[in-house]
Amino acid sequence: MSRVEDQYREACKYLAGGVSSSTRVNKALGHPLLFDRGQGCRLWDLDGKEYIDFCCSHGATLLGHGDPRVRKAIDQVLDRGFPCSYENELHTELAKLLCQTIPCLERLRFTCSGSEATMHCLRLARAFTGKQKILKFEGNFHGYHDQVMYAIGTPANQLGPETAPTMFPGSTGMTQGLDQHLVLVPYNRPDLFEAAFRKHAHELAAVICEPVYYNAGCIIPSAEFHEVLRRLTREHGVLLIFDEVLSSFRMAPGGAQEYLKITPDLCTLGKSVGGGQALSALGGRKDIMDRLMPTGDCQHSGTYNGMQISVAAGLAAVTAYTQPGFYKHIFTIADRLYQGLNGIFERRKIPARAQGLGARFGIYFGVNGPIRNYRDAVQHHRDQMLRFIKAAIDHGVYFHDYGGAACHHGFCAATTVADVDDALQRLDDAMKTLAF
Ligand SMILES: Cc1ncc(COP(=O)(O)O)c(C=O)c1O
Repeated sequence: MSRVEDQYREACKYLAGGVSSSTRVNKALGHPLLFDRGQGCRLWDLDGKEYIDFCCSHGATLLGHGDPRVRKAIDQVLDRGFPCSYENELHTELAKLLCQTIPCLERLRFTCSGSEATMHCLRLARAFTGKQKILKFEGNFHGYHDQVMYAIGTPANQLGPETAPTMFPGSTGMTQGLDQHLVLVPYNRPDLFEAAFRKHAHELAAVICEPVYYNAGCIIPSAEFHEVLRRLTREHGVLLIFDEVLSSFRMAPGGAQEYLKITPDLCTLGKSVGGGQALSALGGRKDIMDRLMPTGDCQHSGTYNGMQISVAAGLAAVTAYTQPGFYKHIFTIADRLYQGLNGIFERRKIPARAQGLGARFGIYFGVNGPIRNYRDAVQHHRDQMLRFIKAAIDHGVYFHDYGGAACHHGFCAATTVADVDDALQRLDDAMKTLAF
């Protein structure tokens, strides 16, 4: 038996399901792949097998594994005794850099996870507007708290009508009745959004969205969609929240809001902001953020908020993202990888398409034409995707399947053109073994 299998068996004796996070099980394998170490864009599992990593810590390690700049920053905090739950100059330096880099940020707060960031952001929106309801989009994912964990993975046969999508709960055990505080609308449909918004504007605290919908692979909505979102929310005193936990730094230093040229009132940041350490943030307009205690009356606290190791790592990472040439490299790799993948699919007559923006992408099987929203994404052939991922892993390319309709994949900035070519060769070899 391999060490990976052996260790997973041992883990199952003590960790529920053998993991620390349910989605860490790779559905294509039926178990998590246990990694010994990572360097740059490569990972080695417990059996010593090497992989080119297209999961990249679910988006957290945008610089790659073991980045020396992040390592040095962490070492310096360790040398200072890494006090926990205290502030120092690093928090201000990172907050200042983020406010200078991300269009909507005038003030911000650090949290540990993306789920906490969206949870606090929604509470703040309610406190500021005095209204209760939140409008969210079908399929968009905003973390693991009960308020918004609806319609994140609705089965294709239970979607309901477009004008009244099913509030399909993302888990059992959720507090009953929370869905009455939500308005649910299909993504990337300005017409349906406008109709629902006009009906509910008087009771809406906020509209929250993934500005680029990476949780369904990669969907860039129409310019009209974002224009309507921004115009109507502004006209009616409803806050617009961009959940940039996944999109931040992916295609521009200012994230999707810079790329799309739409400035929300509030946003959340996560994953890449911490350079691979547990860091997230919420922030936006000063008048709204001032409602947080102690200046205001809305609570946001946490023992581990702004852990010094995470903040130092984040400062090193965001400094790297803002260096000249960083995104030129990201787009060079993106073009080569996405064109290369689509080339393989075409040549081998595999009914699949890769769709990406910046450093993250989706692959859809058995679909005709572009994927525009969850309803399109859920039609793709998951069984084919699972076979593709399994073959890729066998040939040394790591993709992760979380179990959603379509998954997001990504590369890190440490990936070179030679690494892409190596990965494409491995994938081409993998595809030879598959018949669709
Ligand atoms: C858009 C978005 N929001 C929130 C979250 C939750 O973040 P975390 O897993 O750090 O709690 C995620 C996680 O994938 C996400 O993609």
